[in-house]
Amino acid sequence: MQDSILHEGINEVIGTTRLNAAPMGVILRGGRYTLALFKGSHTAENIVRDGWFIANLIHDPVIYVESAFGDLTDDVFTTEIIDSTEMHRLAAAEAWVAFRAEVIGQSSEAYSILLTPLREEILARSIHPVNRGFNAIIEAAVHATRYIMNHDPELEWLIRHHLALARKCGGEREKQAAGMVEELIREESL
Ligand SMILES: Cc1cc2nc3c(=O)[nH]c(=O)nc-3n(C[C@H](O)[C@H](O)[C@H](O)COP(=O)(O)O)c2cc1C
Repeated sequence: MQDSILHEGINEVIGTTRLNAAPMGVILRGGRYTLALFKGSHTAENIVRDGWFIANLIHDPVIYVESAFGDLTDDVFTTEIIDSTEMHRLAAAEAWVAFRAEVIGQSSEAYSILLTPLREEILARSIHPVNRGFNAIIEAAVHATRYIMNHDPELEWLIRHHLALARKCGGEREKQAAGMVEELIREESL
């Protein structure tokens, strides 16, 4: 299969496994797809058990925040049968790539996962002008996933910096996502 949807480097996608979604960074280097997958998440549990993963491309900052810090409802998923296996992806994905996923290494904290592409589909050819607000939400969400574990004040500063950028440069969905991250940080600092 040709590499057409994901690009060299780290692709910040919404990863789906069995009725679960979470932002994940699919690494593409030298034609090889891998995931650095921290232990303890639903995604890690599902990949180890089921051996598949779908990278969903969707340009909605609210979905990134909701799937990073909570669970999406089952009705956002749709089923694809690939290699006789039922796999779940986001119904609203603009494009997706299904992978076989196998553990090729592990440390006490994380698995190294090798991804082998099985099928991909482009459903919408939409144009996304570069927007610092959207990118700032991704940054804020990455920092917030760490902040909720260690409450590091430096991370809190970075999150607030990115939320301000999201509000300045983003549209309504970025502002909504910024409000959700801010609320999470507020609850964490109580
Ligand atoms: C943009 C972004 C990228 C992320 N990439 C990864 C990743 O590559 N590996 C990982 O283990 N967690 C990653 N995370 C953190 C997970 O999304 C987070 O731990 C999530 O709560 C896991 O959800 P789950 O329990 O439903 O799998 C990322 C978070 C964000 C916001």
